[in-house]
Amino acid sequence: MNRARTGGAIALAGAAAIAVVVGLASSAQAATTLGASAADKGRYFGTAVAAYKLSDATYSGILDREFNMITPENEMKWDATEPTQGQFSYGSADQIVAHANAHGQRMRGHALAWHSQQPSWAQNMSGTALRNAMVNHITNVATHYQGKIYAWDVVNEAFADGSGGGRRDSNLQRTGNDWIEVAFRTARAADPGAKLCYNDYNTDGQNAKSNAVYAMVQDFKARGVPIDCVGFQSHINSGSPLPSDYQANLQRFANLGVDVQITELDIAGSGTAQASSYASVVKACLAVSRCTGITVWGIRDSDSWRSGDTPLLFDNNGNKKASYTSTLDALNAGGTSSPPPVSTSPSRSTSPSPSVSPSVSPSNPGGGGGNGCTATTSVNQWQGGFVVTVRVTAGAAAINSWAVGLTLPSGTTVTSTWNVTRSGNTWSNVSYNGHVNAGQYTEFGIQGTGTAGTLSPTCSGS
Ligand code: G3I
Repeated sequence: MNRARTGGAIALAGAAAIAVVVGLASSAQAATTLGASAADKGRYFGTAVAAYKLSDATYSGILDREFNMITPENEMKWDATEPTQGQFSYGSADQIVAHANAHGQRMRGHALAWHSQQPSWAQNMSGTALRNAMVNHITNVATHYQGKIYAWDVVNEAFADGSGGGRRDSNLQRTGNDWIEVAFRTARAADPGAKLCYNDYNTDGQNAKSNAVYAMVQDFKARGVPIDCVGFQSHINSGSPLPSDYQANLQRFANLGVDVQITELDIAGSGTAQASSYASVVKACLAVSRCTGITVWGIRDSDSWRSGDTPLLFDNNGNKKASYTSTLDALNAGGTSSPPPVSTSPSRSTSPSPSVSPSVSPSNPGGGGGNGCTATTSVNQWQGGFVVTVRVTAGAAAINSWAVGLTLPSGTTVTSTWNVTRSGNTWSNVSYNGHVNAGQYTEFGIQGTGTAGTLSPTCSGS
């Protein structure tokens, strides 16, 4: 479709009307926002957010309409959260978390340990002092946000570019090769309910750099270093084009037993070429059962860190681009790739820390039946706490709302939930995930203290 080129308010209105008619003809119930469509597939669609833009009504209007996951673009980085050693500053990041809580969005934390955007005091450190400072930083920040983060980018961009396939030189790397696993163990101890991710760029296809990351993840899984996910930034441009083995690369990481996520997607270009690349990324993620979500790195082109490349889904005025339409269409068309229930349950490696022993129980065989949906649970239990992921699967017909009956054992306390509203033992859809197409599913989460035990959910949909 070449709608972006038609120009003029009347032509655009006409094109929009045609799109609506076509949409109605092909799928009466197709989701109309990115977040809702992704939720239909048990996934999220997120964006990077800058706290100072939240007061811009166009910006926050799009954010709250389209996106159900937020990554702070800069506000959780080391220079922002610990500008002076030992003095933590969470104002801007807390503002974003409060916005997310108020609008039913989840948070990706970004980034606990990174060679870049360190405060000047850390840049000037080395050896044991820097290692201790890193551990203290991770402990404080992950504890401050304990229970509020879906996934943390624990370590960002630690591998070198080029054919060498080794670690990037940095002050953190020079504290010893084990700095990455120390960072992950420290994060797990501070926030055992958060998924812990390694995040990097130019790892989107199979190459020396992604091979090196792959070997690290393989090693971590073999040795029980806690890692749950790998983030693929996917900053795509002519110098770093979308690789033909993009999906295969995601899949080989998923096969190691980690979730994979597209974490900072932006694609330089315009028109149908850009729109087609966005659709390809979405299709690849939907085809990989452990690809749990996609985040674009900003909302409007003017919000981008490289705005001259016009790499995002909305133009400078907040209008939907052709790339928005292709992205939504690809999400809506992705109904044939629903992952099997077990494969997207939260993955937790066993932490060597004696005080934190996460484990995952398999999904229960499912409950409910009732009116048009079934519910299954998977439990990630560690000493003193748990995360329950509940999957609601529609039956032979689409449903527009659902309610899950789920009683948690006495002695448990719920500390946070996502993608759901609760009334006692009844857990119901929120605005964006009530509609589930036939045979498709959506998921919600419950984090709490105590022991979740074996759960017997029921489901009714209408
Ligand atoms: O806030 C200061 C402002 O006070 C000052 O006057 C101005 C002068 O340069 O700088 C402002 O800070 C800038 C900050 O963005 C906030 O706008 C920094 O200079 C600038 O370097 C920083 O850029 C960020 C960049 O990371 C830093 O590495 C981009 O916004 C952010 O989009 C980008 O995001 C990274 C991911 O974290 C990791 N992966 C790559 C991605 C793109 O580079």
